[in-house]
Amino acid sequence: MNLICVASPKGGVGKTTLTANLAHALQRLGLRVLVIDFDPQNSLRLHFGMPLSDSSGHVRDWNTVQEWAHHVRESDSGVRYVPFGRVQKPERDHYEHTLAKEPKLLANWLAPFISQTDLVVLADLAPGYSEAMHALSQFDPIILNVLLADSASLSSLPEIESGNLYGEDVRDRCYYIVNQVDVRSQLNADVTAFLTQRLGSALLGTVHRDEAVAEANASQMLVFKYSQASAVAADFDAIAKNLHRLLPKAVFSPHKKSI
Ligand SMILES: Nc1ncnc2c1ncn2[C@@H]1O[C@H](COP(=O)(O)OP(=O)(O)O)[C@@H](O)[C@H]1O
Ligand SMILES: [Mg+2]
Repeated sequence: MNLICVASPKGGVGKTTLTANLAHALQRLGLRVLVIDFDPQNSLRLHFGMPLSDSSGHVRDWNTVQEWAHHVRESDSGVRYVPFGRVQKPERDHYEHTLAKEPKLLANWLAPFISQTDLVVLADLAPGYSEAMHALSQFDPIILNVLLADSASLSSLPEIESGNLYGEDVRDRCYYIVNQVDVRSQLNADVTAFLTQRLGSALLGTVHRDEAVAEANASQMLVFKYSQASAVAADFDAIAKNLHRLLPKAVFSPHKKSI
């Protein structure tokens, strides 16, 4: 399946940063890529230069926009993205409630994209379990878990592996990235070594902790544009290559068609 859900047990671990930069790295490999924000923080758009004042998005406008395809925007980098939209809690609750009642609704909206065999769709999810993840799980997605090299991430691993966190039906498709690894920290080195051994080929790579990431984010730029020669840009490229190998052969074609 060419749907990748970027998930994590807890927030603030780098899901959105990784989603945006991996989308770009996959596109650099010649793939067509669409990224969708499912996190109410609505921050994916900032990596693609969408103006802060623009509050539109697929959740804010889900009642008013008739064609779901109209939520899709094209970034300067060529990656297409769908913002969540700025919404208040009652609208968010209503959206979650509707998805819980009718998970097929989201699946129907997304099916025209996900059924395009030469398109990779990345979903940036809210931390933990969400109705969006439940709705997307029927597409047999790859679940890409973002962990940190710390004790909190280690303690969440059994929950993911047992299927308690996201559901039993996706546990066989869980893959991992360890983000913000500080090479000078002994704890980071020890936890990364442990995870490398424990996860084997399910660990798709590690990403250095680097100020360039925070600076790129603050400048509303992708790391590739802000600091192309950085170690993190090389990390993203390496992970994109590993992800690419997991995708069906059909998505290997060059990315010239429009969505
Ligand atoms: N590899 C990294 N090195 C340094 N800072 C990082 C790295 N990855 C993410 N960050 C920072 O961590 C914070 C949280 O990242 P974000 O992508 O918003 O996480 P999430 O989507 O999981 O909440 C941001 O300030 C971001 O700049
Ligand atoms: Mg996020």
